[in-house]
Amino acid sequence: MKKKDRIIIIDFGSQYTQLIARRVREIGVYSEVISPSLSLDRIIEMNPLGVILSGGPETVTSNTASKVDNNLFSLGIPILGICYGMQTSAKELGGDVVTSDIREFGHASISLVNSSMLFEGVNLNKGLLDVWMSHGDKVADIPKGFEVIASSINCSISGFQNISQNIYGLQFHPEVTHTNQGKKILSNFLFKICGCSKNWSTSDIIKSMVSNVQSEVKNEKVLLGLSGGVDSSVVAMLLHKSIKNNLICIFVDHGLLRIGEVEEVMSTFEALGIDIRMVDASELFLSKLAGVIDPEKKRKIIGNTFIDVFEREANKIQGVKWLAQGTIYPDVIESSSENHSSSVIKSHHNVGGLPEKMNLKLLEPIRELFKDEVKKIGAELDTPNHILSRHPFPGPGLGIRIMGEVNETRITILQKADKIFIDELKKHNLYNNLSQAFVVYLPVKSVGVVGDGRRYEDVLALRAVETVDFMTATWAHLPYEFIGKVSNRIVNELSSISRVVYDCTGKPPATIEWE
Ligand code: XMP
Repeated sequence: MKKKDRIIIIDFGSQYTQLIARRVREIGVYSEVISPSLSLDRIIEMNPLGVILSGGPETVTSNTASKVDNNLFSLGIPILGICYGMQTSAKELGGDVVTSDIREFGHASISLVNSSMLFEGVNLNKGLLDVWMSHGDKVADIPKGFEVIASSINCSISGFQNISQNIYGLQFHPEVTHTNQGKKILSNFLFKICGCSKNWSTSDIIKSMVSNVQSEVKNEKVLLGLSGGVDSSVVAMLLHKSIKNNLICIFVDHGLLRIGEVEEVMSTFEALGIDIRMVDASELFLSKLAGVIDPEKKRKIIGNTFIDVFEREANKIQGVKWLAQGTIYPDVIESSSENHSSSVIKSHHNVGGLPEKMNLKLLEPIRELFKDEVKKIGAELDTPNHILSRHPFPGPGLGIRIMGEVNETRITILQKADKIFIDELKKHNLYNNLSQAFVVYLPVKSVGVVGDGRRYEDVLALRAVETVDFMTATWAHLPYEFIGKVSNRIVNELSSISRVVYDCTGKPPATIEWE
């Protein structure tokens, strides 16, 4: 990866900012999202070939609206403002932005009123371009030296440019798929205006990651906490390719895993020739969890015990200098944003605090990648498909899927029910359409009737969701017959369960996990 071919996206808080970054990378150019508060000096140091100003929920008509250092506009670096990004550019450069009488949300048709490199090669539909709008404000007057390049009925200034200053603005969103020529427009900005070259392909990324790891780590030993999830597994594959036997993986069995998980993870990585060592700490975890009901306490106990066990095991291995982690780009952005809730969620499984405690250097080889990029790279590194296609599984495992106290009996029941649900999903080709599916244990007694007898036992809930980023999710509309079949199997095969329910709550208002 030649870093100099980099595009910077300044995030004004739009729900689409990450999408812009992904589109740019899909087109083959490395992109990074930064905050508007990052100093101009820092931006210059990053040496971007172009800057994209994202949309955002604020109004530039307010005095407190977020903006960039005005000098950014005179550096000569190509700039593309999208929606709010266009409006703030207009305002900063002496144009006028007003609150629109007609707010536009959804499809719109625009006409291209002046030629622009942005629109070269774009196909029109009956002379018009179909785009996606989402705005309340609009540019009423363009800055001096600019020309209008696109207009819609409700928004006469839907795009502008100043070719000599290399500044462009679009009121619509080229990054969303509803703007069906959006990729072409972004490609024009990247290649024709910024002069980027394609440098972000899977094989280039792997080559550069391998050489970075080799030059950083040299002959030193690296320790990796391997959970068998996608991120840590891809890191294991990458490190194995880079440093071979200097990688040592530790897999902690906290007793809150799914049926067969220990054997599956161990045999998968052993077969690949990776040094993986399993630590069975289930008794320790279970004894610490005994009698604990509060979800936050459970999480803390599991997280802290995990760190203790990992540290104890790590100390048994001589000469380790590095701790590798499967941190990915969304984790980096989340933890650098003001809202820290998501990074707190991940601190358990990312073995937070360990590197400093153990005096280890931190190695995060996939911290620049989005999840879908991690999967692509994983596939090219020959990570087994059953690992890459697995649904995410939380660090605290079944511990946060058993409401109330966690004990061995409940774990065993939940493991069996979960296996039934997941096996059936796979059998019916439904598993890969879902983002995450699992069973939750509810220690609530309910009456049932089986044969001539009465059953008074606990309840299980099935949870299946669809989501892109796990920040929001919809409950999956699984076929009724399918849910019925799973429910039947569970109640027939597990005598200690009297009833199965299906969770039809989205996120928000619920979360994906129950605790
Ligand atoms: P929630 O329940 O917050 O879950 O909607 C969003 C995603 O995060 C996973 N999750 C966790 N992962 N440690 C993890 O490693 C945790 O403590 C944790 N809590 C939730 C959850 O499974 C879902 O994919």
